[in-house]
Amino acid sequence: MPQHVAIIMDGNGRWARRHLLPRAAGHKRGVETVRTVIKACIARDIPYLTLFAFSSENWRRPPEEISFLMGLFVRALEQEVDKLHNNGICLRVIGDLSRFETKLVNMIRRGEALTATNTRLNLTVAANYGGRWDLLQAAERMLAKHPGQQGGYTEADLAENLAMAHAPEPDLFIRTGGEQRLSNFMLWQLAYTELYFTEKLWPEFDATALDEAIASYRCRERRFGRTSEQLLNETQNAMTTQVVSQDSIIISRL
Ligand code: IPE
Ligand code: IPE
Ligand code: MG
Repeated sequence: MPQHVAIIMDGNGRWARRHLLPRAAGHKRGVETVRTVIKACIARDIPYLTLFAFSSENWRRPPEEISFLMGLFVRALEQEVDKLHNNGICLRVIGDLSRFETKLVNMIRRGEALTATNTRLNLTVAANYGGRWDLLQAAERMLAKHPGQQGGYTEADLAENLAMAHAPEPDLFIRTGGEQRLSNFMLWQLAYTELYFTEKLWPEFDATALDEAIASYRCRERRFGRTSEQLLNETQNAMTTQVVSQDSIIISRL
């Protein structure tokens, strides 16, 4: 099972157009899919779910659509934060919140504080998030922590300052809506993530579609630069160790 699933929730507008509805109706339906996918992750014991809700480039959309999306975000927080808390979900919002209205920022901070100690599911929502913004702010924070240090930084020094430092890197990336691009999502963390693209539009994505993505993930061989033979040997060694340790448990019981 993947421990961390990251999703670009794309295709709301096209779903609405197909149903002869305004784009806003697609975004509204998209919120329902978010609920479904959260429940499905909990049922499958997936501890980390990250959702791309609004990119740093989405400010280029028509102002009416942006203000509808912001309103939807506020309403979702008003209606859902208590439910998230009661279900043991820890909510975090990552992104540059400085462009959001104070009311929205306060609601986000309150939701995060309320759910901070929950452990059943770590839900991260990326809002006004961009992978390049994240790398830049991480670099700035890293440098600020080491005034005067010229070089000698490690990948870990940068990674601990990224907005997603609280989570392991995603195992499975899903993008709905048919486009096969990252659209400035977690550029650093997706380096070795298994990528899965589906034509399904976000409002029609469901638990079955999630299972299809997981099934695809489970067929992948994650080599991280090594060869298949190395992985096979490691698995065999691990199995031998397990058998030997089971034998010694049996012998010690005798
Ligand atoms: C994703 O759906 C939602 C956001 C980016 C906020 P879109 O609104 O991008 O839907 P399409 O791609 O136009 O169908
Ligand atoms: C990516 O979707 C961002 C989110 C889903 C929040 P877009 O629909 O904005 O991506 P592009 O513009 O097609 O790359
Ligand atoms: Mg889109």
